[in-house]
Amino acid sequence: MITVVKNIFKLDSEETSYLFRVLDTGHLEQLYYGKKIQVCDDYSLLFEKHGIAFGNTVAYDQSDVNLCLEQLCLEFSTNGKGDFREPILQIKDRRDCRVSDFVYVGHQVYSGKKEVEGLPSSYGACETLEIILEDRVTRAQVVLHYSVFERCDCIVRRMSVIAAEQEITLERALSMQLDLPGEDYSMVTFNGAWVREMQGEEKTLSRGIYVNDSKTGVSSNHHNPFVILKERDCVENSGGCYGVHLIYSGNHCEIAEVNPYGRTRILSGINPHCFSRKLRAGERFETPESVMSYARGTAQLSKNFHAFINEHIVRGHWKNKTRPVLLNSWEANYFDIDEEKILQQARKAQALGFELFVIDDGWFEGRNDDTSSLGDWAPDHKKFPNGFKTLSEEFEKIGIGMGLWIEPEMVSENSGLFREHPDWALCVPGLAPSCGRNQLVLDLSRDDVCEHLISTIIKRIQSAKISYIKWDMNRNLSDVCSALLSHNGDLYHRFTLGYYKLAAAITGAFPEILFEGCSAGGNRFDLGVMCYMPQIWASDNTDAHCRMQIQRSVSFGYPQSVVGAHVSALPNAQTGRLTSLQTRFGVAAFGMLGYELDLFELSEREQNDIARQIAWYKQHRGMMQFGQQYRLTLPTNYDGMMVVDDRQQNAVVLMYQTLHLPNDVSPVVKLTGLDEARRYTISEMGADQPFATANGDLLMNCGMKLERFSHQENGAGIYLPDFGVKIFCLKSE
Ligand code: DGJ
Repeated sequence: MITVVKNIFKLDSEETSYLFRVLDTGHLEQLYYGKKIQVCDDYSLLFEKHGIAFGNTVAYDQSDVNLCLEQLCLEFSTNGKGDFREPILQIKDRRDCRVSDFVYVGHQVYSGKKEVEGLPSSYGACETLEIILEDRVTRAQVVLHYSVFERCDCIVRRMSVIAAEQEITLERALSMQLDLPGEDYSMVTFNGAWVREMQGEEKTLSRGIYVNDSKTGVSSNHHNPFVILKERDCVENSGGCYGVHLIYSGNHCEIAEVNPYGRTRILSGINPHCFSRKLRAGERFETPESVMSYARGTAQLSKNFHAFINEHIVRGHWKNKTRPVLLNSWEANYFDIDEEKILQQARKAQALGFELFVIDDGWFEGRNDDTSSLGDWAPDHKKFPNGFKTLSEEFEKIGIGMGLWIEPEMVSENSGLFREHPDWALCVPGLAPSCGRNQLVLDLSRDDVCEHLISTIIKRIQSAKISYIKWDMNRNLSDVCSALLSHNGDLYHRFTLGYYKLAAAITGAFPEILFEGCSAGGNRFDLGVMCYMPQIWASDNTDAHCRMQIQRSVSFGYPQSVVGAHVSALPNAQTGRLTSLQTRFGVAAFGMLGYELDLFELSEREQNDIARQIAWYKQHRGMMQFGQQYRLTLPTNYDGMMVVDDRQQNAVVLMYQTLHLPNDVSPVVKLTGLDEARRYTISEMGADQPFATANGDLLMNCGMKLERFSHQENGAGIYLPDFGVKIFCLKSE
């Protein structure tokens, strides 16, 4: 609920309150963001007191010589009037002057929210506040948008900038600013690289600036555009924390600054690096949306974001709809695929219970390795002599869906498309472009390029009965220069807008096809993609041990429904590690389950085990995919996740052991998310009989002391091996 009393704005969700006010000068002072507080008639205790002007400070104006912007928690900041922190907006006027001074001129509150033109955005029941500010220097206006999603305790924010009669240049236009009192925070960021995405790292903030950003052209595996700011005492179930997500897939930045006065500022938005955008009189610029949430404890913060993403980001046919179990051709075959092989695998897959077979890279004309053919999207007639229409009919007869891999944003130099349109790739005239995976990036800022790709890809998908598309993007951007020179000021951003244009047109043309985003694994894993594609391949790392860590980190900001996870062959292609089929399954089953191995290379026993795993998963799929997922807190040698259904009636627990420690005792496993009063029977996956019965309060408060971390094989007890898992099913009436 949004209430406006005199000059105070109060944004309430079910559990949180967010307050700011308009000062006499017209600036906005941030007053409070945290646990919900009641409406009261006097908030003056929250106002910053500034009785004395200290040396060396800049007084905003002579009407109050004690008011210094840098000492306040501000709701909006620019450059040049005494706030020396990183600003949310920086504009340059005709004279190259970078001073601006935005003050309040009005506001409106309405139910619902507007879409953001050209950008993906959240949707659904909410209430919106718009604050209008005007610059005393250029008369440009800014609109700050706040949409409150009450039930999941999220506030979505963005900014519009509108030039007045004079042209301005935006040098920085971020999406959100949050100034907090105090300086005892740590910031959790999710960092990495290819095959080691989402490594959560926590840094204690101290005076100065810390930046989490991407300059790669995509949201990146280097630094995910999701961060958490924790109060000092924050752990899973207590202590305040703030989460910030950006609904954007391009260069981004999240800046944390602690100033000399012990105020902490968080900013998030499009990375100002290589960004400048001219706005002529009356032109408008929209920033992407940012989603923020406050919670007591990171478990609740994750819950808020899981609900928000499932309800207000993922949309269309696949929203809250169970996903098929798939077999992907990549790790089993790489580029070596053909009709016969594919059909053989598809038949076998169907017999084991798979519902979808995905033909990954290597299916199009001349694509025998990664040096050629991107851009030429026709099936290779040598590999697929009967074409895809016939192939998809064969799939239909077999009774399994057909999925296809594409990489629309790229072009190989060795391709018909590049020979015909060399200027369609990003490059600097006269300078040889740098390749990544032997390929160049198409200039998606150009309408002609986007139109060509949209019609080519739509025709290709229409040419057969396809039920799933994996949309890949395998390199970062370099040589970011367009043949359309007027695009160069903000070409990274225009590229991202072009990607959204493609994504909207192509996914929009096939509402029932399941699209899975991918960027060499999780190089573009963000809410922008999720507005078009309900799931993303989280990492090319399919090693269960690494995946356990990756998926655990992912779960801080994202629900399991958006995470593609596969069981692959041994030894693992990325780490060479050997883990049991049960471990690989257990970990993958905590994402959207798929397999990526050659079924014909498996023993009969392994094939039967896979059939049993798939049958079990299908039986629990609603809960595994859309139930509430939690992280367990365990000693370092162990890890655990669990998922609980909506009615807290059923749950599945995954216990993971890193190394087998000889002569050690098993950890006490405290569960979470259960109904305290319910009585649960607990059995191991696949066992006929439960091994224990207990109430939710015992399981959560006391925990389970499990008999040795071992299992029975051929009548004898053996230790759970290195990287072993136990999967427990909980049921109550
Ligand atoms: C990178 C992806 O992450 C892989 O899963 C696979 O699709 C390859 N690209 C294909 O080139």
